[in-house]
Amino acid sequence: MTILLTGCDGYQGWPMLMRLGVKYPDEKIIGVDNFTRRHWVAEVGSWSAIPIYPMDERIESFKEFFKLNNLEFRYMDLRNWSVVDNLIREEEPRTIVHYAAQPSAPYSMIDAEHAIDTQMNNVKSTLNLIHSINKNNLDTFLIETTTMGVYGTPNIDITDELLPVEFRGRKDTLPFPAQAGSWYHWSKVHDANNLLFAYRVYGMNVIDLRLGIVHGIRTEESERDKSLATRFDFDFWFGTLFNRFAAQCVAGFPLTIYGEGGQTRGYISLEDTIRVTELAVEAEKKGYNLINTFLETASVKMVAEKIQEAGKNIGLNVELKSVPNPRKEAEKHYYNPSNEKMFNLGFKSKYDLISSLEVVLKDLSEYKERIVVKKDKFLPKVLREKL
Ligand SMILES: NC(=O)c1ccc[n+]([C@@H]2O[C@H](COP(=O)([O-])OP(=O)(O)OC[C@H]3O[C@@H](n4cnc5c(N)ncnc54)[C@H](O)[C@@H]3O)[C@@H](O)[C@H]2O)c1
Repeated sequence: MTILLTGCDGYQGWPMLMRLGVKYPDEKIIGVDNFTRRHWVAEVGSWSAIPIYPMDERIESFKEFFKLNNLEFRYMDLRNWSVVDNLIREEEPRTIVHYAAQPSAPYSMIDAEHAIDTQMNNVKSTLNLIHSINKNNLDTFLIETTTMGVYGTPNIDITDELLPVEFRGRKDTLPFPAQAGSWYHWSKVHDANNLLFAYRVYGMNVIDLRLGIVHGIRTEESERDKSLATRFDFDFWFGTLFNRFAAQCVAGFPLTIYGEGGQTRGYISLEDTIRVTELAVEAEKKGYNLINTFLETASVKMVAEKIQEAGKNIGLNVELKSVPNPRKEAEKHYYNPSNEKMFNLGFKSKYDLISSLEVVLKDLSEYKERIVVKKDKFLPKVLREKL
């Protein structure tokens, strides 16, 4: 049996590839990537705080530490229909974990070219997978991590069930409306709709894991050795909130809160998201499944305060500083999404926020110089000048 994982060089992809390798020692685990994330981060002038090893060295190191020889890597651009279709026809994967995407909202908002490339990359890659599974008459489970950002911030509770609607005296249950906030997030709305349609028209087995913002460094496998580490981005474009604030804290740079800092989102640690994805692979859920995947919600200000507290506990003192919000978003709003279905998969978190943040800050401190040298990348130029 074969499991295919797309985006295996990425932040989540590499630890998930190792998790699958360890969990399914008798299966072939194929990872694909075109290393485009490495190029995108270089394009904005930044780098991963934690140095990441070339893919062949990562795989050799995995072999050495876990005494397993079941990981395979294929360099591949998922936008290319014939290479995707050849791979899927030859390997007939029982499950595909689809992570490959351009995942940054600010990067997708740079200009027309970045917006269009993001949508073409993300939507085309997913369509190629859907169509190849269907064309080859496979019963493959297709698991994609979309994003909680698909929903935006509606003034009602967010559910991953169908939404009961009553309008002009008639009732129905409909997919929850999408109100995404960037071209990237809209690419995931399109993916989510295409996944639902693939289920409706082809009966495809789909799990849409609608992910909150992921944070952290360590997973059970990656913490074994530096050569197994995953990337950790901290720049304005690719650093997600917790991770960027953690890097700012280590660099002694103020934690920059956009506007009032009331923007509230769902969050989940890297280890927890890998665990949920692992459970989704194990569950082999037939049909269409949408699962909100986050552990807790917090405002930007609350996240900054938590990092500040964890920093203080280990002797790092940073101030909080409000800067003009570079994004068009509500700074005060209602936010109440549900996440029960994630627990129905059997998920239990061992996570403790403050102690985990302390571990992140300690791990990052080792790479302080790599962060400090790029500290002008925490904010876009226009905001740096206002600091
Ligand atoms: N990190 C988060 O906070 C977060 C939150 C919500 C959803 N997600 C989603 O989870 C998935 C994984 O996110 P991540 O943070 O690991 O991102 P990442 O950028 O680190 O990983 C994605 C990988 O896909 C590869 N890739 C992109 N386009 C490709 C293509 N056309 N062909 C082959 N490879 C390609 C990249 O090189 C990269 O290694 C993404 O779909 C993202 O949208 C992430």
